[in-house]
Amino acid sequence: MAKVTLKIKRFDPQREPASWWSEHALEAEPTERVLDLLNRVKWEQDGTLSFRRSCGHGICGSDSMRIDGANRLACKTLVSELGSTITIEPLLGMRVQRDLIVDLEPFFAAYRTVKPYFISDAPPPPDGRERLQTPAQRLRFDDTTKCILCACCTASCPSFWASSEYIGPASIVQAHRFIFDSRDEGAGERLQVAGETMGVWRCHTAFNCTLACPRGINITQAIGEVKRALATGRVE
Ligand code: SF4
Ligand code: F3S
Ligand code: FES
Repeated sequence: MAKVTLKIKRFDPQREPASWWSEHALEAEPTERVLDLLNRVKWEQDGTLSFRRSCGHGICGSDSMRIDGANRLACKTLVSELGSTITIEPLLGMRVQRDLIVDLEPFFAAYRTVKPYFISDAPPPPDGRERLQTPAQRLRFDDTTKCILCACCTASCPSFWASSEYIGPASIVQAHRFIFDSRDEGAGERLQVAGETMGVWRCHTAFNCTLACPRGINITQAIGEVKRALATGRVE
């Protein structure tokens, strides 16, 4: 067990208009996750502490936050990776609703603009069979299927901080997932959205998004591939 201090940026508009910091001393095992510590603070020290979490295992993407200055999932961040003082803040560039909870509605509104669902007028194969593709065709967009919509990427992007109208890397990852799917016929519609003023050209290859992604998705490369499809008019 080690002594750990959690410094948490707090905000409650019903209590006071400005944010403040709360500090919490805990004994922690190196194998505990930051989510475990937050739960202990909430359950044992301050029941008003507010944060999102659900699966606890890196799947739902709900507990994204800024931990020691980097966007991470609290459930995937071990105490052993951090020092004795751990600083926790809400994601940057998004409106804070309360404590570590940010307003994700604009993030999901941007996500919806790229039509993140299968589009095809081709009739499905008979007898309930699947639409087939080769292993190579499946591999073409495999990386971007891993996204859990945690927003760590978008909230780490300097272009997004400069203009929250930028659709952001997460939306482009979702567009990529369908644009390069050989079974999908909506690439043109998605590329139109991606090519607009607040689309991919806002990306200046800062790479923060790729470094922040808890799923290890090569986001900057995916954005580059969407840019290339737009520039060449070819999806390949
Ligand atoms: Fe999160 Fe990665 Fe998806 Fe961005 S691309 S929303 S960082 S999982
Ligand atoms: Fe932003 Fe990632 Fe591009 S951090 S500028 S979207 S490479
Ligand atoms: Fe679901 Fe962390 S609680 S990803």
